[in-house]
Amino acid sequence: MRKNKKLAVVLAAGKGTRMRSELPKVLHKMCGVSMLELVLNTVRNTGFSKPLVVIPDSSSNFLDDKNDYYDYVVQKKPLGTGHALLQAVSKNKEDFNTVLVLSGDNPLIRSNTLQALEEYHISELNMMTILTTEISNDSDFGRIIRDSSGNVKKIIEVSESTNDFELIKEGNSGIYCFQMEWLREKLKKLETSSTGEIYLTDLVELAYQSNDKLGSLRVADPIETLGVNNRIQLSQATEILQRRIQEKWLMAGVSIEDPATVYIDVNAKIGEDTTLKPNSHIKGTTFVGTKCEIGPNTIIKNSLIGNGCKLNSSVVNDTTIEEQVRIGPFSYIRGESYICRGVHIGASVEVNRTHLGENSMISHFAYLGDTEIGINVNIGAGTVTCNYDGTKKHKTLIMDNAFIGSGTMLIAPVTIGSNAITGAGTVVREDVEPNTTVVGVPAKLVQ
Ligand code: UD1
Ligand code: CA
Repeated sequence: MRKNKKLAVVLAAGKGTRMRSELPKVLHKMCGVSMLELVLNTVRNTGFSKPLVVIPDSSSNFLDDKNDYYDYVVQKKPLGTGHALLQAVSKNKEDFNTVLVLSGDNPLIRSNTLQALEEYHISELNMMTILTTEISNDSDFGRIIRDSSGNVKKIIEVSESTNDFELIKEGNSGIYCFQMEWLREKLKKLETSSTGEIYLTDLVELAYQSNDKLGSLRVADPIETLGVNNRIQLSQATEILQRRIQEKWLMAGVSIEDPATVYIDVNAKIGEDTTLKPNSHIKGTTFVGTKCEIGPNTIIKNSLIGNGCKLNSSVVNDTTIEEQVRIGPFSYIRGESYICRGVHIGASVEVNRTHLGENSMISHFAYLGDTEIGINVNIGAGTVTCNYDGTKKHKTLIMDNAFIGSGTMLIAPVTIGSNAITGAGTVVREDVEPNTTVVGVPAKLVQ
């Protein structure tokens, strides 16, 4: 038996005019990742190790990330899907025999559907197999035309629509399998259509006319083949993807009180017995541990949250938080801060580029920037680390068990020794020795 060497080609070089955007269509994001990345992940999960992406000349942003896991070929001008596929096939000299073709704007397609298509294509010994889908009258998909015996005969695009066009309920998903040598040969024969583009879909008529084995497989769930051409479709696809993500975490033991107002990105992970309250956003690469209570009204982005944390009405960006930490309401934690186990950050506190030691407390409004805080430190209400002198940022060090009185201004760079105390309203300009108390403006030692 001949071994099946397979290649996936993802078409992504179109203009995407209907998006009305400077950004290439397939780089628009859904739940934190681009459409193209979603498609590439699915394709790779189907066993196509290094997909070949057809990209537009102008767009260097395609190559910025992830290019170690796909190959690319440039289509200098968007001369149509057939022309795009020709670029891919003529670049590739290797001896593949099965080619899966799909578009970067098919973000909801599932791996098991691609696999079923591939298996069917191979078992039928087809030259071309089309994944077809049920459509409504107003669909912008090409229509599948069959002959009187039910064989696929051609695909008609919306732009070429004829009278009975609306009656056809079977559409072209834009996903196909081909036998490589057949494809190579037939692509050269495609002619430019009346719109000036070379249509990949014209291969169907070529196959039919030369009696080459042509087949089709109907997708079970038409949602999967949703194509994103405009921002209405982008928002519809995003909603469906969000529902899929939430179902995954619900099944994994996460409670979601109000699914309609919760947003979880593709790359977020959430532990068992954690509850997401209304209006919680888990963005980017975020890991939330087990038995946490997140929300209401909380946004976490690119952060690590340990087990048993409670975050209420707060924003946490680029931060690591250990276990049993309570934050909020209305606090803002950011700048690669590190919050140790048992810390309590209360209402209206901003924590920026700061390390907070175990069991330290900041219960009421305060600003901590560029600060190192030891264990069991108590920061009084209204404390500010004055870390910026107008030109440079400076560091504040507060050692273990220190007690910072309400309204203390810490003019950085400055160090507060362990067990030291500052009185309410103290302005600290110089280092405070361990085990001492300072008060006043400027701070003076209390004997
Ligand atoms: C295409 C199909 C249509 C099908 C629909 C399903 C053709 C002619 N029509 O139409 O039958 O129902 O998909 O979604 O194929 N692209 C390039 N280079 C180009 C043009 C397009 O790489 O020159 C890429 C696009 O980036 C896109 C994909 O090919 O990812 C499909 O192109 P698009 O313009 O969206 O085709 P549709 O009009 O949706
Ligand atoms: Ca499309």
